[in-house]
Amino acid sequence: MSAAVTVYVPGDASACSLGADRVARALEAEAGKRGRVVHIVRNGSRGMFWLEPLVEVVTPAGRVAYGPVAAGDVAKLLDAGLLEGGAHALRLGDIAAHPWLASQQRLTGSRLGIVDPTSLVDYVAHGGYVGLRNALAMQPVDIVRAITDSGLRGRGGAAFPTGIKWQTVHDQKAGQKYITCNADEGDSGTFADRMLMEGDPFSLIEGMTIAGIAVGATQGYIYLRIEYPHAARALARALQVARAMGHLGPDVLGSGKRFDIAVRLGAGAYICGEETSMLESLEGRRGEVRVRPPLPAIKGLFGQPTVVNNVVTLASVPVVLARGPQFYKDFGAGKSRGTIPLQLAGNVKQGGLVERAFGLTVKQLVYGYGGGSASGRPVRAVQIGGPLGAYLPESQFDTPLEYEALAARDGLLGHGGVVVFDDHVNMARMARYALEFCAVESCGKCTPCRIGSTRGVELMDRIIAGRADTVRNGAQTADLALLEELCDTMFNGSLCGLGGLTPYPVRSALKHFREDFQRVN
Ligand SMILES: Cc1cc2nc3c(=O)[nH]c(=O)nc-3n(C[C@H](O)[C@H](O)[C@H](O)COP(=O)(O)O)c2cc1C
Ligand code: SF4
Repeated sequence: MSAAVTVYVPGDASACSLGADRVARALEAEAGKRGRVVHIVRNGSRGMFWLEPLVEVVTPAGRVAYGPVAAGDVAKLLDAGLLEGGAHALRLGDIAAHPWLASQQRLTGSRLGIVDPTSLVDYVAHGGYVGLRNALAMQPVDIVRAITDSGLRGRGGAAFPTGIKWQTVHDQKAGQKYITCNADEGDSGTFADRMLMEGDPFSLIEGMTIAGIAVGATQGYIYLRIEYPHAARALARALQVARAMGHLGPDVLGSGKRFDIAVRLGAGAYICGEETSMLESLEGRRGEVRVRPPLPAIKGLFGQPTVVNNVVTLASVPVVLARGPQFYKDFGAGKSRGTIPLQLAGNVKQGGLVERAFGLTVKQLVYGYGGGSASGRPVRAVQIGGPLGAYLPESQFDTPLEYEALAARDGLLGHGGVVVFDDHVNMARMARYALEFCAVESCGKCTPCRIGSTRGVELMDRIIAGRADTVRNGAQTADLALLEELCDTMFNGSLCGLGGLTPYPVRSALKHFREDFQRVN
């Protein structure tokens, strides 16, 4: 029998939903029939979803990619010499050289699709754990300063400076502190957290360990949405390996410092991604927003000082510690420093993960990387930042994707999700959807959100009905004014971002696509 050939078949949830498991099984079976041995590595996705399942074969000349591969293609691919990198219509060659990937600036996601997510050895071979080793040689306060100097801001949505948060926790005197990772990833059209946890789980583990050493916390929790079973498995495996190899536990890398991580599964509520609801849920209660102050950094999980950070934020920490704060800070635009993994989804030809320095324009993302709409129709709008993000019309596609530029457009970058819509979209219906989403997901603690969202849906139903008599007698105009007033009340009076930011999609739809609200049926 010939020597085993290594073949990468993504085990990422998006690739599996497109048949990657079937492809892996077919490869093993068909190779066996031909007397060939394949060593299949279930890597993460490279983030080029339109090419999934993207199979890569290791040849003496390097990795050769094929995609999108269906299980039914496998026999013919093997006959065409897949295991030697042979010619075939699905052959893509060296995928790292593909302009879609080669033009990206992958720092946080540098190992995605490249490494074996179960292998700590592979992680280390690709630069892993350099950051933690550097951190262990520093004073905790200097680790915090490095994070502050890097300009890193939270990637979960609020864009709060990570260094300031860590400094607050560092400065508290307490017997027990915690690092919590917010892996609830509730925003529509987002998947960067998932891809990192599935494709490079050690980067999150390393980032959390550095955070623990920096602020004096010995225990970490990953609050993972229950809808991510692939990520749960990848994390469980990686945590076990990290513990067995002394990268977690009572004596992290022989430093005498203790840090360990446990995973807790969420219960499937959007509000559990809001940090104080997440803490409630972690403590075993119903996810309901806590009144602030006190801040979680002072009184968080079980009443102790707690860092709450998003997956991408924490997975970016090893880069800062390995390559220095200035290296990281040199990427970006304005006050948005470093890179952001943008998640391109919706009605788009080439959806996926695009990590670039802040400052790429919407146009460059949607047309350059995305290739326009999947339907081939004109793009009419994008929603940026999840279900609470504003809709931008095409006339504003020159907006750079960075925090302040989007705030100036009455929007937000949030977790970096960008969802594309073609000209079939009815923006009044999208505004109704935002209010309905808020009504369904509201934790119910404050009136503007709990009642306002429901009244908003009723109002939108009247507006969408667009009856000729209500248009004639001015009732529709009055309803539109009432909608604006309702948005003001929710914006100014809600206790947290769910009720407070729902006005963004509603107001932006009304402002830029008013004609959809004034239709007569
Ligand atoms: C309604 C709502 C939902 C949120 N959902 C998430 C989420 O799914 N993941 C996340 O990381 N942050 C989410 N956030 C932001 C968190 O409250 C918090 O700012 C974040 O986890 C802090 O981490 P970071 O500083 O690293 O961004 C949400 C906020 C609100 C108001
Ligand atoms: S805004 Fe909504 S989700 Fe937030 S605290 Fe109020 S009721 Fe709860």
